Amino acid sequence: MTGPAVVTTRAELAALLEPHRRAGSRTGFVPTMGALHEGHASLLREARERVAGGPVVASVFVNPTQFGEGEDLDRYPRTLEADLQLCAREGVAVVFAPEVAEMYPHGVGADDGVMVRPGPLAKVLEGRTRKGHYRGVLTVVAKLFGLVRPDVAVFGQKDYQQLVMIRRMVEDLCLGVEVVGAETVREPDGLALSSRNAYLDEEQRRQATALSRTLYAAVESAPYGPGPALDAARAVLRESDGVDLDYLEITTPDLGPLPEDPPPGYEARILIAARVGSTRLIDNLPLILGAPRA
Ligand code: PAF
Repeated sequence: MTGPAVVTTRAELAALLEPHRRAGSRTGFVPTMGALHEGHASLLREARERVAGGPVVASVFVNPTQFGEGEDLDRYPRTLEADLQLCAREGVAVVFAPEVAEMYPHGVGADDGVMVRPGPLAKVLEGRTRKGHYRGVLTVVAKLFGLVRPDVAVFGQKDYQQLVMIRRMVEDLCLGVEVVGAETVREPDGLALSSRNAYLDEEQRRQATALSRTLYAAVESAPYGPGPALDAARAVLRESDGVDLDYLEITTPDLGPLPEDPPPGYEARILIAARVGSTRLIDNLPLILGAPRA
């Protein structure tokens, strides 16, 4: 198993990718903050399938500009050796693991450089409590797109708002990257895989299953409409201990408000965020509203 080439500077990355570009290969890209797990592995596989033998690049960079004050920037898990092994297993050609100064030569303050203004979707759901989060996410993704210049980039549906906003940025800023959203990978008990699951102790790990159980209860009741779907979801939450709910909402697939009377078969999205202990977890699922039961 040959491992990926590991580079830390823009110049090294450009030098490695140039021959592929000249050969006309498609480049796939999976941006990550490291602490890779099977969810990331599925993104890397998805990218590989879409580049027909071209290189897949993964970035490993804990991006300071997307962490707010009091968030977990300092304790975010950093596991580069294990990440490289997973990348080798998944046939990644290049891992780009820059230092902060390489990505932000002018500094990481909000006024230190040009940043992406994330638009109205940054004010809903996650954006209500995580001020500046999406400005940081979109800025680093735009920079990484500029450095890797991928044909296709794969993101997890687990961070659904992030996925929708990246799609919107690519469209609005004409970035010319195909953005693919890969399905969430779950533990057998339904918990969505996340690097932050590593913070949970045994009891919290058990309590955390309430998020996916809540969503599946809503999916089950969705044929009766959004009200019954939310009622079913809330009933699960009431019976779950240790879960401090931030939001539970049903939206359109692009995170807008639902139409007043969604027609039968309307595809919506249900999203949840909650704290279990001091760990903030998010999850979401598609759901079909008002479809007749089979
Ligand atoms: O989803 C993540 O891991 C991060 O938000 C991303 C897209 C790598 C940007 O730092």
